Amino acid sequence: MFRINSMFSLLLCVCLHTFAQEVYTVDARQTISPVQSTMWGLFYEDINRSGDGGVYADLVKNRSFDFPEAMIGWTTVPSKRQWGKADMFRIVNRSVSHPENPKYLQVILQDGEKVSLSNESFGGMSLKKGAEYEFIIQYKKEGKIKTMLDLVSSSGKTVASINIPLTTADRHQWHSIKQKLITSDTTHNGRLVLTFEGPGTLEIDRISLFPADTWKGRKEGLRSDLVHLLADMKPGFFRFPGGCIVEGENLDNSYRWKTTIGPLENRKLLINKWNNAIPTRQLQDYYQSFGLGFYEYFLLCEDMAAEPMPIINCGISCQFDAGEVVPMEHMDPYVQDALDLIEFANGKVETKWGRKRMELGHPAPFNMKFLGIGNENWGPQYVERLQLFSKAIKEKHPNIQIITSTGYSPNPQFHYMDSALRKMAVDVIDEHYYQTPEWFLMNAGKYDKYDRKGPKILVGEYACHSVRIGSPNNKNTLLCALAEAAFMTGLERNADVVTMAAYAPLFAHVKDWQWTPNLIWFDNNMSYATPSYYVQQLFSVNKGTHVVPLIPGTNPQGDKGISLSGQDSIWASAVIDKQTNELIVKLVNPSGMVKYKKIVVNGNKNVNGKGKMTVLKSNRPDDFYFFEKPETAIVPVTSSIEMKYRTIELKVQPYSFNVMRIKL
Ligand code: AHR
Repeated sequence: MFRINSMFSLLLCVCLHTFAQEVYTVDARQTISPVQSTMWGLFYEDINRSGDGGVYADLVKNRSFDFPEAMIGWTTVPSKRQWGKADMFRIVNRSVSHPENPKYLQVILQDGEKVSLSNESFGGMSLKKGAEYEFIIQYKKEGKIKTMLDLVSSSGKTVASINIPLTTADRHQWHSIKQKLITSDTTHNGRLVLTFEGPGTLEIDRISLFPADTWKGRKEGLRSDLVHLLADMKPGFFRFPGGCIVEGENLDNSYRWKTTIGPLENRKLLINKWNNAIPTRQLQDYYQSFGLGFYEYFLLCEDMAAEPMPIINCGISCQFDAGEVVPMEHMDPYVQDALDLIEFANGKVETKWGRKRMELGHPAPFNMKFLGIGNENWGPQYVERLQLFSKAIKEKHPNIQIITSTGYSPNPQFHYMDSALRKMAVDVIDEHYYQTPEWFLMNAGKYDKYDRKGPKILVGEYACHSVRIGSPNNKNTLLCALAEAAFMTGLERNADVVTMAAYAPLFAHVKDWQWTPNLIWFDNNMSYATPSYYVQQLFSVNKGTHVVPLIPGTNPQGDKGISLSGQDSIWASAVIDKQTNELIVKLVNPSGMVKYKKIVVNGNKNVNGKGKMTVLKSNRPDDFYFFEKPETAIVPVTSSIEMKYRTIELKVQPYSFNVMRIKL
């Protein structure tokens, strides 16, 4: 049961007694500042099984046998224990000559011998009845060895079966074959099984199985349901690839973008930072194959019309872990990575990296405007490295906006960084807030006091934690979503300073997560949007073009410094959309009481009119969605509203987030 803690109740009481107001006034003529098209964006990180086994649609785990334990995800008959005796399977490791693609599997069979190899996918293969899949195998073959593919349900029923006609054309060449198959039934705990019959030798470097139904139907692409949820948010920017993942547990395991582009076999597998980061939620089979690499991220941004915002390693590994630093005199490759990335994204096709982009299929530049140097980095070691990057980038690419870090929370490091970054007159400062509902409510006015002439702010990661910051028991409750919405009214009102913001993290697999809460949860079969998702979406699709004043009281000429930030437990902001000529008001009521309010719209030619109101609410603030019970979903509902004599009368429901749109 939800209990308002003492600090929160004190806040609500103070607000109630000091400021209770019936009427709010909006002045649609007085624009305060433009709302940037980038305002509401997305933060993506391969955490919680978001990449392989998540949004990247390949159903085969450890598809090229390159995991340190090469048979993770695979079982064989005869079993691995018997390999020594039977010598039918071998793992070949050629890491000296092929460090980026070290291992492959060898199957050696005599006449009449029959063996099988099966993949468990990511906790059971999810296959849909009547759906089309594409099987891919990369191999070398000698002799007459035959190969058969079956997709099998948990009860052993075959739901698809085909012969794979492998060629012996050149025994020394790697060949690739793709075969389509359609499943006859649905299974959520299935397996892919290959059966081989001798005589002959088969070497296998990769096995994949992709659904045909990927995002935009792209071959070997992304899970369409998950990307649809992102695209439906109409994000202004897309930050990738993280997160702590950029930093790595140590520098050897840090993310370097150049290893994530080009032919799949050249994308060197990397342990995922979240593999063992949380002792109670270790995932020993969590690796990054980089099928979803930097080129795919740029394509995704283009698909969603979101500004790409890559973040690269700044020469420091995760400061929660080893915090290793690259010596200053060895920083050149890191700085060069930044310059090359800009060329890859924006350079002409005559340049080295622009040509690479063209060769990958995209001659036109991606027109990247933002580049993050470091994720959650801080301290003098960060400042001196950032200076190196900034100098090199600004000399060559003065228009690139550099995103700079203040660490992970509003703590002493934050203040040190904030003042250092302001002295450096950086472009954009990234701030992160994983906090309680009370914190978000109390800090909705935070940016009212920020320096209007200083760097712009990216609130690059934030999320309300219901139980305790970082607790594994945190849930995506309605109250958390409302607290985020209240905070976001403060971001919106200060759109002249806060130009970008994103919730974090974005995705989580219901079984394989390390972090909670998250914006979107999924299993191998379906996905669902949390109340926080709808808050983000409602802000984004109703972002408008200009902020206008919304003040308590009837006098629009009154004190414009007063913002609606908790008075009578209401948090609110207003924008107009000059393109559609509409006023948009967002109003949050996280209290348990109905609030009767009137909004007077000054500067509106229409004295009377109709509009619509979208409300996200539930009966209890601690309600959250249960994956197993879709009927518990908390979703926004839209109805019509009326304006009479420039006044809209509202009954603001308890525990609700309300978005009102009205034609001006
Ligand atoms: O969003 C989860 C993690 O939180 C990110 O990886 C990191 O940047 C932050 O600490």
